Amino acid sequence: MDDSSTPVTQSGPDRTTSSWADVDAHLEHSIVRPDDQFAEVQRRAQEASMPGIEVSSGTGKLLGLLTEISGARRVLEVGTLAGFSTLWMARAVGEDGEVVTCESEPAHADVARTNLDAAGVGDRVDIRVGAAEQTLEQLVEEFRGGDGAAFDLVFLDADKAGNPRYLQLALQMARPGTVIVGDNVVRDGAVLDADSSDPDIRGIRQFLQDQGDDPWLEATAVQTVGAKGWDGFSLAVVREPAS
Ligand code: DHB
Ligand code: MG
Repeated sequence: MDDSSTPVTQSGPDRTTSSWADVDAHLEHSIVRPDDQFAEVQRRAQEASMPGIEVSSGTGKLLGLLTEISGARRVLEVGTLAGFSTLWMARAVGEDGEVVTCESEPAHADVARTNLDAAGVGDRVDIRVGAAEQTLEQLVEEFRGGDGAAFDLVFLDADKAGNPRYLQLALQMARPGTVIVGDNVVRDGAVLDADSSDPDIRGIRQFLQDQGDDPWLEATAVQTVGAKGWDGFSLAVVREPAS
């Protein structure tokens, strides 16, 4: 079999190379078309030696489109990193919208602040620095105190071990129609390992199960391949209570 007919579904250490990344690059140039601000975000992240684990451009734009399609004005993000996905969603909420984004690493939050200010959306992004669970608990308090409106879209992309708890807390700040997106729910297929001792894999498995079990969520998950390897995301909407 020559290279051109090698199926991309092959297993082995090189399965994420060439074809998947090449197709992602093609899609980026042909249809996604991120502007220079996104490259600037990535450049500053690299300059600060941050890990290149932000979402792909295609996924970032999907987050922006989901924000726009759902009419979301208030977005909650858990895991800011350098603000790449934040920028896609911040643009999509519009001038009157807000993205509240949680980041545990102060140095990452600083880079994100620079990036979002430089991209012209700094005034609509509230970066909360601290452990995600504590920050979310604080946000729940603010929400209960009547200070904050519900979130229309939630993107969970921090440590995966925390996802079940982050979901619980996010749901306390949701309304019927709120969209919940979870990144990295496949992790090279490691999601299949029921006996995994890796807290992130255990977290992902629980996160998926919890969404499936929750009678107030309508949820799915989609596998992806691309520049970021073999992974996937979950997508859910909070249901209207039965009348
Ligand atoms: C990792 C985290 C992510 O959110 C991601 O998209 C890819 C990798 C990680 O921690 O390795
Ligand atoms: Mg991620």
